[in-house]
Amino acid sequence: MTDRYAVIGNPVAHSRSPSIHARFARQTGQDIEYGRLLAPLDGFVEAVERFRDAGGRGLNVTLPFKLEAFAWAARRSARAQAAGAVNTLRFDAGAAYGDNTDGAGLVRDIEARLGLPLAGRSVLILGAGGATRGVLAPLLDAGVARLTIANRTPARAIALVDGFLRAASASPPAGAPGGSAPAGARLRGCGFDDAGQGFDLVVNATSAGLAGERLPIADALLAGAVLAYDMFYAARETAFVAQALAAGCPRACDGLGMLVEQAAESFLVWRGVRPLTAPVYEALRAELAAEAA
Ligand code: ATR
Repeated sequence: MTDRYAVIGNPVAHSRSPSIHARFARQTGQDIEYGRLLAPLDGFVEAVERFRDAGGRGLNVTLPFKLEAFAWAARRSARAQAAGAVNTLRFDAGAAYGDNTDGAGLVRDIEARLGLPLAGRSVLILGAGGATRGVLAPLLDAGVARLTIANRTPARAIALVDGFLRAASASPPAGAPGGSAPAGARLRGCGFDDAGQGFDLVVNATSAGLAGERLPIADALLAGAVLAYDMFYAARETAFVAQALAAGCPRACDGLGMLVEQAAESFLVWRGVRPLTAPVYEALRAELAAEAA
């Protein structure tokens, strides 16, 4: 029997997830169907339970429901716990399991597709919202030497770090890779103008680019990095990618690869099979380019 999955969100019409999972299913021979579920802003839980009760096996959760999904899940992975958010629900018999594959998707895209091992690197993340919180634990687990969170509102970055460290000390992760200093010694929250310098990687997790806005960070920060990574993606060059390249950064890319990788990780959680991501990334990139032409 065909197992049913979907992405739930509001809005959800733009989601690429159905196209990604259809490709994964074809590639791996898994008998699944994957759709879109638009939930009313005040009707997330009802929509999830209706989907589950009708035989659905799992959901991807997108904006603005990741916190509600976290609260609703009966069991949660350690990485969901660290993120405080759930993007993957699996309806196990008796208890819904909540996971978060966003950070793993970012790490895998950077390390596997872009070929940049993260261990020992200095990383600057711009922004202190949910997108940032979702990737902190996986970046630390990948062994980054320094993880600085710079935000327009510095107090929010500082609060994010404090909250993260409090939660981590209450339930320590399974184990950082050998040689990594404790999270508290590697993490720092600050404003854009006191981020420091010498970062190998600069990651945009702000929503500024959605409005085409430039971020007020020094060109030198971008010029000195080996990679600028935008967690958002678009058919055309994103505002952050354009800013990084103009500032002299040798390499910049958008978050399409992260999207594909987090989807592959969700597919693994549901089906126990990890699909190949490179051909799906290439197909989606071509699809986006054709739409933009
Ligand atoms: P989410 O939880 O989905 O990440 P959010 O909580 O609205 O969304 O966070 C958006 C992030 O983008 C925040 O870090 C926000 O900065 P503030 O905390 O100062 O609001 C950042 N952001 C949004 N627009 C921005 C802009 N024009 N310039 C710089 N940062 C911006």
